[in-house]
Amino acid sequence: MQWFADAKLGIFIHTGIYAVNGVDESWSFYNKKIGHEDYMKQLKGFTMSNYDPDFWAELIRKSGARYAVITTKHHDGVALYDTRMNGLSSVKATPAKRDVIQPFFDALRKRGVKCGAYFSLIDWTHPDYPGFLKDRSKYKIADDYARWNAFRSFFQGQIMEISAKFQPDLWWFDGDWEHSAEQWEAEKIRNLILADNPDAILNGRLQGYGDYDTPEQNFPVTRPKSDWWELCMTINNNWGYQPADTNWKTPYEIITIFVDVVSNGGNLLLDLGPKADGSIPEEQIQVLRELGAWNDKHGEAIFNTLPGIRQGHFYGPTTLSKDSTTLYLFLHGKRSGSILLKGLSNKIEDIAILGTDVHLPHKVVGKISWSEAPGLVYIDIPEHGQDPYVTVLKVRLDKPIRLYPRLKNAN
Ligand code: GLC
Repeated sequence: MQWFADAKLGIFIHTGIYAVNGVDESWSFYNKKIGHEDYMKQLKGFTMSNYDPDFWAELIRKSGARYAVITTKHHDGVALYDTRMNGLSSVKATPAKRDVIQPFFDALRKRGVKCGAYFSLIDWTHPDYPGFLKDRSKYKIADDYARWNAFRSFFQGQIMEISAKFQPDLWWFDGDWEHSAEQWEAEKIRNLILADNPDAILNGRLQGYGDYDTPEQNFPVTRPKSDWWELCMTINNNWGYQPADTNWKTPYEIITIFVDVVSNGGNLLLDLGPKADGSIPEEQIQVLRELGAWNDKHGEAIFNTLPGIRQGHFYGPTTLSKDSTTLYLFLHGKRSGSILLKGLSNKIEDIAILGTDVHLPHKVVGKISWSEAPGLVYIDIPEHGQDPYVTVLKVRLDKPIRLYPRLKNAN
């Protein structure tokens, strides 16, 4: 899990036929906003005529992301690679006539970015899936075990294909909620994948057989308990391309959410929804570029760091260098006045605004000679040297951080 823990930022890509009409990925027919037949007509419009995997990969690398996750198949059952398990793929059933995944993974790997495969366990178009939504003929697995078994061989066959063809570094399963671990054979799936690639990481949507948690869309208010987690989040309100959705998050919002996630020990998986011709909407490109520029300047405080100090010592996000001798403080937006650090037992060697040559003095207030309690550290924030989005203070300590009062199993 080490590369995953150090990576902090991943880019999610929802590419699929839903971009043709700009409807909800798969859910639009599930929720009867569109009939299944009409949904599937979008196959004819999926051209990928402007697909430029090198452009995608370069945009992702420059954003600072260390991994990317792409939909190999969403709940609609349309594979974005040349599956031999049926004919429903971008290669065989769309004018794109091409495998979307391999060239993208090649372009990512050339740039040292890890490759993740999103795979939906649910397949609402497969005739043997209970809840086949073409005619909504649900059947109970217990009543027709042979039929369920046929589906199981099908989807597990696809997983093995993806594993053999693309050797994903990470698997991003989705839709596990419709069936139990036993029904999916989650343990077997995990073992098959790890037999092929012992280093593969699996997300947590495999009924208990994954490696990390996947909170969705909203940052949890308190620090998640699990050691490894990843917040997946859209740039506007939808995963796939929807021209009607212009509710873009601003770079400031994305960066502050990202910082909050990293401070709390997680990764951010930020989603892009390319158009059906393979181009990426300008607004999404802009957000990634701003994020990348911010990361270029502040990456030291983000990548390969440890989660920050517990709340109460500082009113804002923090991270620590791996050796815990540098504390990074994140200040959102434009600031004035001074900030306060409480319960820091260390001596501060230096405070600098990261990415600048501005060094800041500090004042220790209320230190009593006979008490073990350290004083309060006040740091004045100057006008100059601030970042328009999030300013980072680099606080160099005399030795690994020690907080007061000391808590068991804490810094
Ligand atoms: C949800 C949705 C799916 C989306 C996924 C991404 O599980 O079912 O449409 O792809 O979240 O996190």
